[in-house]
Amino acid sequence: MKLLNIKIIIIAGLLAVSCAGHDNVELGIIPAPQNVVSSGNGSFNMAGASFAAGEGISPRAIDAIRTFAEDLSSSTGVPSSVGTKGSIRFKVDTTLGDEAYSISIKRKGITIEYATDKGVMYAISTLRQLLPVENYVGKPAPDAKWELPCVKICDQPRFGYRGLLLDCGRHYFSTGEIKKCLDIMSVYKLNILHWHLTEDQGWRIQIDTYPLLTEKASWRKGTQVGRDKTKNDGVPYGGYYTKDEIRDIIAYADNLGIEIIPEIDLPGHMLAALSVYPELGCTGGPYEVWTRWGVSPDVLCPGKEATFEFLENVLNEVAELFPSRYVHIGGDECPKIRWQDCPDCQARINELGLVAKDDISAEQQLQCYVTSRVQDILAKKGKSIIGWDEILEGDLKEGATVMSWRGAKGGIEAAERGFKAIMCPYQYLYIDYAQVEEKDLGKEPMAMAGCLPIEKVYSFEPYEGIPDGQTGNIIGVQANLWTEYIGTDEYLEYMLLPRLAAASELQWTEVRNKNLDRVLNDIKTHQFRIYDQMGYNYSKVIMGIYGNK
Ligand code: ACM
Ligand code: ZN
Repeated sequence: MKLLNIKIIIIAGLLAVSCAGHDNVELGIIPAPQNVVSSGNGSFNMAGASFAAGEGISPRAIDAIRTFAEDLSSSTGVPSSVGTKGSIRFKVDTTLGDEAYSISIKRKGITIEYATDKGVMYAISTLRQLLPVENYVGKPAPDAKWELPCVKICDQPRFGYRGLLLDCGRHYFSTGEIKKCLDIMSVYKLNILHWHLTEDQGWRIQIDTYPLLTEKASWRKGTQVGRDKTKNDGVPYGGYYTKDEIRDIIAYADNLGIEIIPEIDLPGHMLAALSVYPELGCTGGPYEVWTRWGVSPDVLCPGKEATFEFLENVLNEVAELFPSRYVHIGGDECPKIRWQDCPDCQARINELGLVAKDDISAEQQLQCYVTSRVQDILAKKGKSIIGWDEILEGDLKEGATVMSWRGAKGGIEAAERGFKAIMCPYQYLYIDYAQVEEKDLGKEPMAMAGCLPIEKVYSFEPYEGIPDGQTGNIIGVQANLWTEYIGTDEYLEYMLLPRLAAASELQWTEVRNKNLDRVLNDIKTHQFRIYDQMGYNYSKVIMGIYGNK
């Protein structure tokens, strides 16, 4: 009997499929999983599959499983249950990484191993891409093929930070549209929405201490028409998010495993705030919410203590509202022209003993002082800061994370100086740029100057230029969707898709599994059908079809 047991164990061991090696079976999933191996002949039928989501599974993971089971039932026409027993089993494996999961598909059932809720969510996200696209919305398709091949998938992300920036400052997008962005982010296993909430052209977040920010500064008198800064439509434009709406978005994102990082851009990009609190500027105003695009010379005055009182009150409310470990404090494009002429700023520079050195002007060092004070304010609330790569100009305190946008050089410098960095160089990841080559610009809707075809997005390598030994400081990659020229939901989605799919492979997939031909082919034959089901507008320029916005 003992001998028989040992024999069974040995045979089971031989039959067990590990994901060692990477003879990757091609499954048609974006972002491509790290390892897929065949686990025998045959397939498993998902129609009528039942889910054993018993003890140890969190309510959030059960919600995700239940939603999947409901969609499946509606699509296959055969009920799928969620209970303590079933053909799809979930097993905790604490040796796996935080976001890792494995899916073992056998003829008789599926085993999903995971360490945290995120693993469950990503496993479901992978299964959904393996099934007929109707499953995304529970559309009936009983005659579709609901069989999954016998494979074992072992998967985990290359980077822990996989972000999308959404600029709701230049244009306001409804909470419904933001949820739609979150839905597609979850298809591609992104885990951070960087929400750009304040701008020269509008303040978009309720702050109880300063009601004028939303009553007045969320509105502008008109919007620039085209590229001509002197042309304006004269149509009042505005909108903002109440704290309740923001809480609702945070909860919605959390259910998809997505963290929301708010950005309060400072000390530049603050004209909307200055329009209602002019005493916080160097000249005292009057100021107006900007009706054109560009970089405003009017910024917060760090010579006045009232500015820091304002920032502390605003940031405290922001820190209390958002559970994220980070608050993004901007720091980009802050002209120093007003500070040079401002007696208060100059007095502050003298008091702090700031003098120009190593190409860093005294005024630039004054911005470092602002960054440092804001970092202290947020540290008291248990938050770390992220800032655009300008925050590297001068001394930067430990614990800050740098977002490299003016090329990769900011990320390289940050990594070399021991800071964590997120890569989003404009040349590769500014998806507000047109998605065609220059020769085809005329065929496309107006976009930010610059061309960023999907092939170029895909060609970015986040570690390029990072010295060996410091690559660990690159914590992730982000695609940035600025919205100067994007005023409608349809155009927002058009610019987002399908480039977000390509970006997700920079964020998730190991380099050895990247393959542009595979990605483009899967987008044309599969991802577009997902977008159709889910009701997204998207660009078909990779099929030679232009201007579909
Ligand atoms: C930026 O694009 N100004 C960060
Ligand atoms: Zn000043």
